[in-house]
Amino acid sequence: MDFSQLIQTRSSVRGYLKRPVEEEKLDLILEAARLAPTADNRQPFRVIVVEDQALRAAFATAYSRKWFYTAPVILVVCGVPSEAWVRSDGFDCLVTDAAIVTDHLTLQAADLGLGTCWIADFHSQAVRRVLRLPDYLVPLFLTPLGYPAAGARPRKRRSLDELVCWDEAR
Ligand SMILES: Cc1cc2nc3c(=O)[nH]c(=O)nc-3n(C[C@H](O)[C@H](O)[C@H](O)COP(=O)(O)O)c2cc1C
Repeated sequence: MDFSQLIQTRSSVRGYLKRPVEEEKLDLILEAARLAPTADNRQPFRVIVVEDQALRAAFATAYSRKWFYTAPVILVVCGVPSEAWVRSDGFDCLVTDAAIVTDHLTLQAADLGLGTCWIADFHSQAVRRVLRLPDYLVPLFLTPLGYPAAGARPRKRRSLDELVCWDEAR
């Protein structure tokens, strides 16, 4: 798939097959996360791979949608605030870096025929409890990972006219 096809193809997947994710595909996805650009190349993130059935079930305390648990893998993108680059006016790049990491891994997954869905609407404390996260990690984004149970839905987007403005010379 070329890049244009890839970004056309990726969409949020909210239902998964039981089929496991192959180890080599998971490795490629994690490598895509590793290669993500981060501010000042600080790499202030860690990715936690949750495959264990009991642990995944325990995520119900953090995010209760049933479709979420149909996936064989949950990826948890955590930030490390003490490692993040912060601009002199206080702008902290931690979440930006974690978002780029998450984008890399979701796009790599789509390229491999796998589905993902960004999840930010979870209870952070519950994720901390389930994974027994150390204090230096902050869970920022979750995504299920697995083979989609259904084809992609058409995506709604604003028109380019609404989203882009050109300089007056044009
Ligand atoms: C930062 C971020 C947070 C999101 N959080 C959630 C979430 O908590 N639950 C959910 O179902 N989808 C979540 N989404 C998925 C968006 O709803 C989805 O990307 C958007 O509707 C566009 O659809 P598409 O991904 O299929 O293109 C999130 C997406 C992003 C980028």
